[in-house]
Amino acid sequence: MLTEEMLASIKKVEATRNERIGADLRKMTAEEKEALLKEYHPDYKDTGFETLKVGPNKGEKVPTELCHLLHGKSRVADMDIDLSNPDYDVDVLVIGGGGAGSSAAIEADNGGAKTMLVTKLRIGDANTMMAEGGIQAADKENDSPATHYLDALGGGHFCNKPELLKKLVSDAPGAIKWLNELGVMFDKEEDGTMVTTHGGGTSRKRMHACKDYSGAEIMRVLRDEVWNRGIPVVDYTAAIELIKDDEGKVAGAVLQNMETGEILIAKAKTVVIATGGAGRLHYQGFPTSNHYGATADGLILGYRAGAELLYADTIQYHPTGVAYPSQIFGALVTEKVRSLGALLVNVDGVAFMNPLETRDVTASSIIRECSTNGKGVPTFGGGYGVWLDTPMIEMLHGEGTIEKRIPAMLRMYLEYGIDMRKTPILVYPTLHYQNGGLKISADGMTDIENLYVAGEAVGGIHGRNRLMGNSLLDIIVFGRNAGKNASAKAKSVKVGKLTLSHVADFEKELADAGVESDCVSPKLLPSYTHGREKQI
Ligand code: FUM
Repeated sequence: MLTEEMLASIKKVEATRNERIGADLRKMTAEEKEALLKEYHPDYKDTGFETLKVGPNKGEKVPTELCHLLHGKSRVADMDIDLSNPDYDVDVLVIGGGGAGSSAAIEADNGGAKTMLVTKLRIGDANTMMAEGGIQAADKENDSPATHYLDALGGGHFCNKPELLKKLVSDAPGAIKWLNELGVMFDKEEDGTMVTTHGGGTSRKRMHACKDYSGAEIMRVLRDEVWNRGIPVVDYTAAIELIKDDEGKVAGAVLQNMETGEILIAKAKTVVIATGGAGRLHYQGFPTSNHYGATADGLILGYRAGAELLYADTIQYHPTGVAYPSQIFGALVTEKVRSLGALLVNVDGVAFMNPLETRDVTASSIIRECSTNGKGVPTFGGGYGVWLDTPMIEMLHGEGTIEKRIPAMLRMYLEYGIDMRKTPILVYPTLHYQNGGLKISADGMTDIENLYVAGEAVGGIHGRNRLMGNSLLDIIVFGRNAGKNASAKAKSVKVGKLTLSHVADFEKELADAGVESDCVSPKLLPSYTHGREKQI
């Protein structure tokens, strides 16, 4: 139930709404943004980070929770593993059943490779399924991949790896065409033209969407394609360590059945890591918009095998997570709500910023409003939020717009008795995306031979801050890319004798560095039982 304080604040929001319609809110200068980020963005909070003591990124800081996992003990450390008689022998092993993994599997299959996809939950249990707002592609006359490149480069603080960003934006129109032909039902005008909108940091309307369940629609189609092709999918089976051969090339993975604990060995000529993000590590105590399995597993596996991380110290906090009601705390309120015209408004009914700044800037501005400025709306448990003035959408675009363009949002709030057409909603930043990840080159391969990575587990595409809609895009572009290249590479690979010696070497490096840890990794699933759970 809305508190008296919330109701009093809503009155102020209502009283100022008319004067806000059509208001031209100024964007911040580069200097203002930099100062804001340094002061308020969680990436700049030293207490949230620790320094890696081993591995290719030794000496660099990463989020504390990730550091513990990277310093953790391998799940295979105390196991007696027989690699001599693999349970599976394939050309391409794809680890992860989201959009990137599915796209990789489809293209690997297309390339004629014997392909298998393993996933610790079910195919489709992934951040892709939760993605709402859309997918960027410069495929309209007033736009170009070069403009898309510049937008993403600015948003990424000029740290994006140029060859990866170039591939992302150049392949984007083809990605939309591919999805459209596979059967994704994008929003279209009556004449078949794609409906496109702005996102934070975009200079052109290039966001293609399927209402506000774009990811679910894309995942539906990709999953069907994987199934229709008859690509083997091994559900409820986690990769718990990579296997190498005696030449140090990646050659498969140790798998574990999540229900029975049974260990299975998959031998492969090439491996694609597509395990997604890390929201369920709840960095700095933030809630998350991520799915249950987002525990950074691929980063642990890759790092232990010697693959380098890039920008693992930069995390995206989506500005608008649900701050109220508590049942859906941290769930995503799509940026599309802001691109449709809803403004961010403080406790006094004042619109305190242009809502289409990049995400890091917007999130920091909300944090400042709720902390130093003292203009947040108290929620529950000592928390605060700001209003997202959703009734403005209907005033700007006409009655029925919310139902038509963001029906999932409308339904989610109605479940809790909140009609966002009539009343504003309370939001606060939520942990949404891992900007960094494993370093790859443009062919999708890491520095470790035969190990490919795609999707959120990759670092470098988005620099130090991703723009909305470039993630659904990167899972398609880099998923397909990794699948094609892993499949082609597999044709010339001769796998040597399988070994896990790199795991023992890593353990020794930890011991030599004096790292003692009772943490076992990869984590596989989050724990919300405060240590009382029984891990597999
Ligand atoms: O706000 C959103 O709908 C999220 C999109 C994204 O992360 O790309």
